[in-house]
Amino acid sequence: MTPIVVELDADHVDALARFLAELPDGDLTFVKEDVGGPEAVRAWMRPGRQWLAVIDGEIVGFVAVLPLRGWSDHVGEIRLVVHPRHRGAGLGRTLARHALLRALDQALAQVVVEVVADQEALLGMFSGLGFTGEALLTDHVRDRSGGLHDLVLLAHHVEATSAAMRAIGLEEELAPE
Ligand SMILES: CC(C)(COP(=O)(O)OP(=O)(O)OC[C@H]1O[C@@H](n2cnc3c(N)ncnc32)[C@H](O)[C@@H]1OP(=O)(O)O)[C@@H](O)C(=O)NCCC(=O)NCCS
Repeated sequence: MTPIVVELDADHVDALARFLAELPDGDLTFVKEDVGGPEAVRAWMRPGRQWLAVIDGEIVGFVAVLPLRGWSDHVGEIRLVVHPRHRGAGLGRTLARHALLRALDQALAQVVVEVVADQEALLGMFSGLGFTGEALLTDHVRDRSGGLHDLVLLAHHVEATSAAMRAIGLEEELAPE
């Protein structure tokens, strides 16, 4: 069944809380929010900045583009997670593309995402969408068994590279409706 991407709204709160509750702890770190039930989810909802992938009425993925604060409020951070049962089917890429396009709507100049450096295919996915590595933070991530991993900060200069986005196949979505 083909996924649809919809904006998160109040009607999704309970289902999103259930989706988040099913994720392994390690994946929840990428959401960077309090995921302790519907009330917590309601508290961090941001209209127009969070989207869901839905298959047959079931939430299978979440993506947000949230502006950073203060002097970096022109920069959005992507937070992306797909349900483990639905990975490897292109949902992550679909949601990441959606987030980039919405960042353009929000007039963000730049979008960043944090990726653990040893996830080469994932780095490849974001590179394919026009992200480039801008910082490497050594031993910045500690996994549950105590292992240390480097973290890469990838950035996409969305304003400056919207032409390049067209070149990678986003022209349809960029076209006025
Ligand atoms: C990252 C994530 C969203 C990808 O979701 P997905 O639906 O499986 O992604 P896709 O099916 O669109 O795959 C896109 C590419 O990334 C690769 N990839 C996806 N997840 C990967 C992972 N955890 N490690 C390494 N590579 C990965 C796939 O192999 C694919 O590459 P390919 O097209 O060259 O084969 C999912 O693994 C996830 O939720 N991980 C936990 C949270 C996270 O790491 N978020 C990213 C930073 S915010």
